Amino acid sequence: MTWPFRVGFGEDAHRLEAGRRLVLGGVEIGHAELGAVAHSDGDAVLHVVADALLSGLALGDIGAYFPDTAEQWRGMDSRVIVERALALVQERGWVPVNVAVVVTLDRPKLGPLRAEIARSVAALLSLPEGDVGVSFKTSEGLAPLHVQTRATVLLARVDAAPGVGGE
Ligand code: C5P
Ligand code: MG
Repeated sequence: MTWPFRVGFGEDAHRLEAGRRLVLGGVEIGHAELGAVAHSDGDAVLHVVADALLSGLALGDIGAYFPDTAEQWRGMDSRVIVERALALVQERGWVPVNVAVVVTLDRPKLGPLRAEIARSVAALLSLPEGDVGVSFKTSEGLAPLHVQTRATVLLARVDAAPGVGGE
């Protein structure tokens, strides 16, 4: 028998520049002075959530599904990437159980947006808000022109869910 659990992990980084949007977890950070340089909307939280979902089942990474050279994906809403990764996981009979995200960004402070970002990511994954942990760190000034993100996700096989199989 194989275990009905898998851990996925994702990591991403984008350069920051004036005059760009900063979108994290589907939430527009309106007061950011710098935004992400990216082919898509540059949502470094959704990119790691998608990569974590895919890596848990060894399904490759988002670049395999959404090449950043493809003109059709320019400026795309990264929610589409997460929806695709989730569908690939679900098609194989798995679901995410919880997600932990870390965002390293010097400015602005994101603490006040923690609940909104968690709700937004949770809604995309059909999870309760409390199953999405979001932590913020500065780089201590080491990378002020840089946003770095990391995420882990626990995946469970649907047939191992509580209540399935006459429990
Ligand atoms: O990086 P450092 O540990 O100094 O960050 C201190 C705290 O500042 C973090 O624990 C987090 O609560 C908050 N923070 C934030 N937004 C950021 C970076 C850090 O709210 N962009
Ligand atoms: Mg990215």
